[in-house]
Amino acid sequence: MTGRPGDKYHRDPTSQFVFLTLIAGCHAPAPTPPVNTNRHADLNGTVNAHRLDGIPLFILMATQPAKRIIMGVSGASGAIYGRMLLDELEKLGTEIHLIVSPTSHIVMREELGITFPADRFDPSKFLGRKVKPGQIVLHNDADLAAGPASGSFRSAGMVVCPCSMKTLGSLASGTGSSLVTRAADACLKERRRLVLVPRETPLNLIHLRNMTTLTEAGAVILPAMPGFYHRPTTIEELARHLVLKILDSLGVEHHIGYRWKDEG
Ligand SMILES: Cc1cc2nc3c(=O)[nH]c(=O)nc-3n(C[C@H](O)[C@H](O)[C@H](O)COP(=O)(O)O)c2cc1C
Repeated sequence: MTGRPGDKYHRDPTSQFVFLTLIAGCHAPAPTPPVNTNRHADLNGTVNAHRLDGIPLFILMATQPAKRIIMGVSGASGAIYGRMLLDELEKLGTEIHLIVSPTSHIVMREELGITFPADRFDPSKFLGRKVKPGQIVLHNDADLAAGPASGSFRSAGMVVCPCSMKTLGSLASGTGSSLVTRAADACLKERRRLVLVPRETPLNLIHLRNMTTLTEAGAVILPAMPGFYHRPTTIEELARHLVLKILDSLGVEHHIGYRWKDEG
């Protein structure tokens, strides 16, 4: 899947409808076509891609619609975290509104060896695999008229991963001059979950004060500090543990990675 920022990749409602009808078997009432193919989200950002009247409740419950999450990627080191998080969110069926800062392209090139033509990010190329249609909606970081710029655009929250000190500083000042910072600012004002994954070391007093300001404003500062108690043997295992923490913080159900003395 390739595309310009702003492109939307819609799910095919018909294929899901046919699948649901098949698994409902002969108990299903006469199939009613989807009556409304417009996406809408409830206040928690749960996206109802379409209504399926006439499908038994237990089928609908088993196929609960995905959450909508806004994800910003900025130009801090740690592109691997961004890639792994996007990969997991996509696999979990989350609707992701993705905003990639121009500088993050440089970091992706340096750290992952992936190059994108200017202003033409490609989620499939980034993930190294095909992306399910409808799952990732790209937005241009300069497009301050995009949906996530408004607090009325519902979502379950936002994550910036990795988060540079520049993005952190802009956020702490509440200026919102890029879509990443504006969307994050909107999450804060709407009291929605905002998870920031900063990567810098050592930290100066300005960085620390910005983190304090953002914590006071309701954001979760989740530094890109991998743990070692799960005894990682590869960089991927190391990074995955951080991604587990981010998904937990976003309130996204998942079963990746190792939990300390947690058999549940
Ligand atoms: C290879 C590379 C690595 C960088 N690593 C970091 C980093 O770890 N943390 C950070 O705050 N900035 C880092 N920077 C600097 C930011 O990219 C720079 O401040 C930029 O203005 C951030 O813009 P953005 O937040 O809009 O993406 C790095 C830059 C490059 C080119």
